[in-house]
Amino acid sequence: MTSATSLFSPVEADLSLLSENLKGLVGARHPILHAAAEHLFGAGGKRIRPAVVLLLSRATGSEQSLTAQHRRLAEITEMIHTASLVHDDVVDESAMRRGVPTVHSSFGNRIAVLAGDFLFAQSSWYLANLDNLEVVKLLSRVIMDLAEGEIQQGLNRFDTDLSIEAYLEKSYYKTASLMANSAKAVGVLSAVSDDLKEQLYGYGRHLGLAFQIVDDILDFTSSSEALGKPAGSDLRSGNLTVPVLYAMQEQPALAQIIDREFAEAGDFDKAIATIHQTCGIERSRTLAADHTGQANACLAGLAPSPSRQALLDITHYNLRRLH
Ligand code: IPE
Ligand code: IPE
Ligand code: MG
Ligand code: MG
Repeated sequence: MTSATSLFSPVEADLSLLSENLKGLVGARHPILHAAAEHLFGAGGKRIRPAVVLLLSRATGSEQSLTAQHRRLAEITEMIHTASLVHDDVVDESAMRRGVPTVHSSFGNRIAVLAGDFLFAQSSWYLANLDNLEVVKLLSRVIMDLAEGEIQQGLNRFDTDLSIEAYLEKSYYKTASLMANSAKAVGVLSAVSDDLKEQLYGYGRHLGLAFQIVDDILDFTSSSEALGKPAGSDLRSGNLTVPVLYAMQEQPALAQIIDREFAEAGDFDKAIATIHQTCGIERSRTLAADHTGQANACLAGLAPSPSRQALLDITHYNLRRLH
């Protein structure tokens, strides 16, 4: 996998500052919650979401200087994302994240639920303190959407009638909403035209969908070591992602195995082998590439700059994660 870091060069210094600030923002009033939250910030993720916010801030404002509000928006975006991961790992019973044990496996479920709530609550407070009602509305909507996405995914476990549209809607709620609305919030802070705000939203939405599709493919094709989180667990837990949905169209027998929730010996391995025999993974890659193209088309209204170029490169980096 290519490192994301070189892509972020126009905002590399901003991202270092952000990582430092994030640890400071999670106050030390509750040592255990602080330790739990810091545990993940310390491990560090790819920081794609704050990088996108910072790059869009530079591309829509001044390449030379970022405002404190733009920086804070990037921090809030990563806080919301991290909070959602802490809860997602409880729901998915996942043991590893960012190459380290998850909060619930280190500190227990009770602490993980509280730590996730604590991060969401803190991000809301910092959000309100931006003193911009339009931005508050965009980002508080995201927190609702994240919950909606997890609920939809939970309700649709092992549902072999799930449509591609329903999968994409769930993926919007779980992943794309944060990228779309934080991108649009940059437009609000930079006071761009309404039309450009919608284009920024479109960039985040399509990038987010492509990102989730790639994540869902990697769950079938990558190793836990490479991902820093368990691979091969979506299907086992009944989360039917797009490679499976396409594979079932080609091989209806796959649906029977999934319907009985892998009750018979060898079912799960048979399902995995069947998926690899179909064009499911390749068609999913094409779908991700399609959203990548749509994301990049949304940047046409931005003047050429190193930041705009990095935003275009990020969408391609996402697809390259598959090689
Ligand atoms: C993981 O997001 C959750 C998904 C939306 C697939 P990332 O892959 O961006 O996770 P980190 O922040 O780099 O750990
Ligand atoms: C995305 O979904 C997670 C969130 C947006 C909360 P996944 O369940 O696919 O994320 P991973 O694979 O655990 O990172
Ligand atoms: Mg998960
Ligand atoms: Mg995943």
